[in-house]
Amino acid sequence: MMDASRSEFEQDLLTALSQTNKQISPKYFYDAKGSALFDQICDLPEYYPTRTELAILKAHAADMAQHMGPHAELIELGAGSLTKVRHLLREMDAPVSFLPMDISGAHLKAAVADLSLEFPDLKLTTIVADYTKDWLLPAPAPEAKRRIAFFPGSTIGNFSPPEAQAFFANCAAHLPAGALLLGVDLLKQPGIIHQAYNDAQGVTAAFNLNLLARANKELKANFVLEQFSHWAFYNAPLHRIEMHLVSLKKQEVKLADQVFVLQEGDSLHTENSYKFTVDSIQQMALSQGLQAGPVWTDPERWFGLLWFDIPGKTHAS
Ligand code: AVJ
Repeated sequence: MMDASRSEFEQDLLTALSQTNKQISPKYFYDAKGSALFDQICDLPEYYPTRTELAILKAHAADMAQHMGPHAELIELGAGSLTKVRHLLREMDAPVSFLPMDISGAHLKAAVADLSLEFPDLKLTTIVADYTKDWLLPAPAPEAKRRIAFFPGSTIGNFSPPEAQAFFANCAAHLPAGALLLGVDLLKQPGIIHQAYNDAQGVTAAFNLNLLARANKELKANFVLEQFSHWAFYNAPLHRIEMHLVSLKKQEVKLADQVFVLQEGDSLHTENSYKFTVDSIQQMALSQGLQAGPVWTDPERWFGLLWFDIPGKTHAS
């Protein structure tokens, strides 16, 4: 039963625990601790996406900025630490405003304060929102020529194929005459992908298990973290990494005055991270009305930054 007084996290975790196929959205990873652990993941030797994407950005930011044109507004979806966007902002011709959108407000505010030191003329508007739901964007600044969404990190890989389509549909609806610069993790030798989610230091395991720690803290659940195992593997037929938390024994968990029995081997599916080909992601975007533009990649083609133009009339025209 839906209870309005319950947080979305509690509701979704209750639903997950009640089902045979227990699955919860990876968006709940990102409390303050989870966001910090994710930043640590990005620096791991095994976790190639961040480093590779950053190298592509550094090499081609000027070219990307050229595509944006002067007086643009840049929206970053799922803005975490803002390291990547700096490279774009530095190359852009008189950007009007920067609107980072993230689900973790505290993390975002700290990062943005830092950004205003480097870009004093830039209008900064933080949007604490869940972009998997409705996009509540402020009206564009009157002097802004074009709105561009930057969605790096292959976070689109967290979406199921229908959710990814809905994402592209949202871009088409909310960014008329705008553009999308999208970072995607590309298909490669599965062993390389596998290692990126099974790092030697166990940071990814800690990141996964933090979901249970968060439930204990925020929802007064009583998960015993030592009784769960981080399990991540590459599901080749579905082109995705799956992350699970596997119960190491038969145990009871209490949440919101309900008791759930977990058998040994039961799994809570916490994340999918899809991998793409340039063609597969372009096809999906085209099906929602976006137009494929340039593709920037690294020499090994491990990661891609893809440009899409969005048809339509500007607010100004
Ligand atoms: C932020 C969703 C892109 O899928 O690689 C990293 C999250 N999970 N290690 C990814 C993540 C485990 C990351 N994304």
